Amino acid sequence: MKSVKIGNIKIENPICLSPMAGFSSLPFRIICNEMGAAYSPTELVSARSIRYNGIGKSLRYMRIAPDEEKITAIQLFGSEPEDFEAAVRTIMETPVLQEVSIIDINMGCPVPKVVKTGSGSALMEDPARAASIVKACKKALAELCLNVPVTVKTRIGYNAGDKGKPEFARALADAGCDMICVHGRTRIQMYHGESSNEAISVMREAVRGYDIPFFANGDITDTESARKIIEETGCDGIMIGRAARGNPWIFEQVTAGLNGNEIPAMPCEKDRKLMLIRELEGRLKYLPEDVAVREFRSVMPFYIKGLPGSSQIKVRLCSCSKADEIKEILGID
Ligand SMILES: Cc1cc2nc3c(=O)[nH]c(=O)nc-3n(C[C@H](O)[C@H](O)[C@H](O)COP(=O)(O)O)c2cc1C
Repeated sequence: MKSVKIGNIKIENPICLSPMAGFSSLPFRIICNEMGAAYSPTELVSARSIRYNGIGKSLRYMRIAPDEEKITAIQLFGSEPEDFEAAVRTIMETPVLQEVSIIDINMGCPVPKVVKTGSGSALMEDPARAASIVKACKKALAELCLNVPVTVKTRIGYNAGDKGKPEFARALADAGCDMICVHGRTRIQMYHGESSNEAISVMREAVRGYDIPFFANGDITDTESARKIIEETGCDGIMIGRAARGNPWIFEQVTAGLNGNEIPAMPCEKDRKLMLIRELEGRLKYLPEDVAVREFRSVMPFYIKGLPGSSQIKVRLCSCSKADEIKEILGID
């Protein structure tokens, strides 16, 4: 894909890892970047919590490594513009976070706990509030004299019948949003049914007159589905979510396929297991072993999916509490 600019940031090969709570760990994002992902936002973090409790507990979800990731993005969720303004200030005044390249706002999360507070997907029903949130982030950054772009990740609508929300996309662009990424499902669909490229393209067209890149997301699993979403939506970039879980190689495969090059084969069993261990060891650098291993239980099955004996291995891995047990089960020293 052609390079794009998000604000002043040049994005080569705009194929990104879509943020996923529980999966977008710092080591996994670094691995995906090595495999060709342009950048990978953190999972969603509460702007309100940062405002009232500081970075503290949220830091583990917001960790970035500017040297290794090159382009970094922190994703915030919330419903009050003031929470975002305060959260952005706090992030930019925190030494380990202040080099972040992009602030991303979640306007697509469908989870009831989030939507109930007017955050995530609920913002699609309130374009004026969504615009105020973008403006609040931009204001905080401008006051700090920082040229950090603000992006939004959203969906094609809230209700079952929604087929794209052009007025919502325009409200975001008018507010100064520097990139919009749209997942082709409604809030009601959660993660079920098909992602609609047609509805994504309605939002794409709505902001074509603005000088900002538009990314599409939903159901990309290989080169073919990547090519399809690009052709059918006219997007400038793509984000890959679920298909990348335990499969960072998808980025080199899709990149090669879209460039008309030979698609590299999936690595062998041993290399897949070694990659699992690499992510685990990365997590162990900033989390206590029991926490790291417990949280990694839901990630490991994706790395071994389809390997001989994977069902039995999965059961054993899911009861581990120590990193050494995982290595032993996988036969890796
Ligand atoms: C387990 C899980 C966690 C997710 N967490 C987030 C999140 O923190 N922020 C966000 O914007 N989207 C989140 N998403 C949505 C994905 O980024 C993506 O939009 C969605 O899965 C559709 O893309 P896909 O078909 O490539 O998976 C999550 C999805 C899953 C499955």
